[in-house]
Amino acid sequence: MNIRTKILWNVQPHLENVGDKVSIIGAGMVGIATAVSVLGTGVTKNLVLVDAFGDKVKGEVMDLQQGSLFLKYPRISGGNDFSATQGSKLCIITAGVRQEAGESRLTLAQRNSDIMVKLVPELIKYSPETILLMVGNPCDVLTYVAWKVSGLPQHKVLGAGTTLDTQRFRVLIAKKFRVNPANVHAWIIGEHGDNSIPLWSSVNISGMKLKDLNPLIGRHNDPEKWIDLHREVIGAAGAIQELKGYTNWGVGMSVAAMARSILGNKLAIYPVSVNANGKYGIADDIFLPLPAVLGSNGVCDIINLNLSPEELASLQDTAALLKTVQDGIHI
Ligand code: 2OP
Repeated sequence: MNIRTKILWNVQPHLENVGDKVSIIGAGMVGIATAVSVLGTGVTKNLVLVDAFGDKVKGEVMDLQQGSLFLKYPRISGGNDFSATQGSKLCIITAGVRQEAGESRLTLAQRNSDIMVKLVPELIKYSPETILLMVGNPCDVLTYVAWKVSGLPQHKVLGAGTTLDTQRFRVLIAKKFRVNPANVHAWIIGEHGDNSIPLWSSVNISGMKLKDLNPLIGRHNDPEKWIDLHREVIGAAGAIQELKGYTNWGVGMSVAAMARSILGNKLAIYPVSVNANGKYGIADDIFLPLPAVLGSNGVCDIINLNLSPEELASLQDTAALLKTVQDGIHI
């Protein structure tokens, strides 16, 4: 008889998984920022970290476990074996190579697609019912690859999309007005990257549309130069990379918010990468960011936006570009 059995009369075995298990694949800077953000939100009672580098992930898990006194739910585990992900409700994939400052995310397509082709079937083997949330770049293209390779229905495969671009946009607008970014309503759609599309026609604060007050907003001939904000959004990742080498906190926090909507069935709306086939005149399986409702099933609805003719044309151009990239990948 050991001390444990002297103190505790065991009635039932403890449950390891209560149905809200989240696995994060990739324990690099983005994976760790996502892990910390997910732990902070308390959306899961069971977080697993997996990375090909066993020592690195073991060290990260030990480090996080030692902070578990201060977390809502302290169960964190991980390693380099995919079996640790068994029975995940949500798998967040942050693994892959990242672009250098000034390099387009699209140049990573084939390299990161090759990684997904190996990794996604392993996840599906252990969690056939999972939802996949893609974070690596090029995010929209990798979401398409994950959908193809996983065999999952399209509502269960999504990418972080332009959630980060949109939050950067909202923060910049908020600074100009000196209001809380949560009270700035604005969307960036189309591509997480250099071809993102700001929806100037619907940017509003308390229902006051900026375009009604400045019809030239977002155009090159706008004397107020609002277009510079979008340029700043496009340059944001590069600017941070030049300063610290990578970006991780902004994306980690937004991925945790998406996880919270999925795990908590909150039905919050984020501009995530989804299959745009049949929407906005797009007639192919092209994954690109559109505002969508996220709940327990994954993607529940895609918002039918009232786009201006210019915005619609830009979205169709971006869709054509992404199709070319998708078609150029050997899966
Ligand atoms: C970002 O925009 C690199 O895609 C990443 O921060």
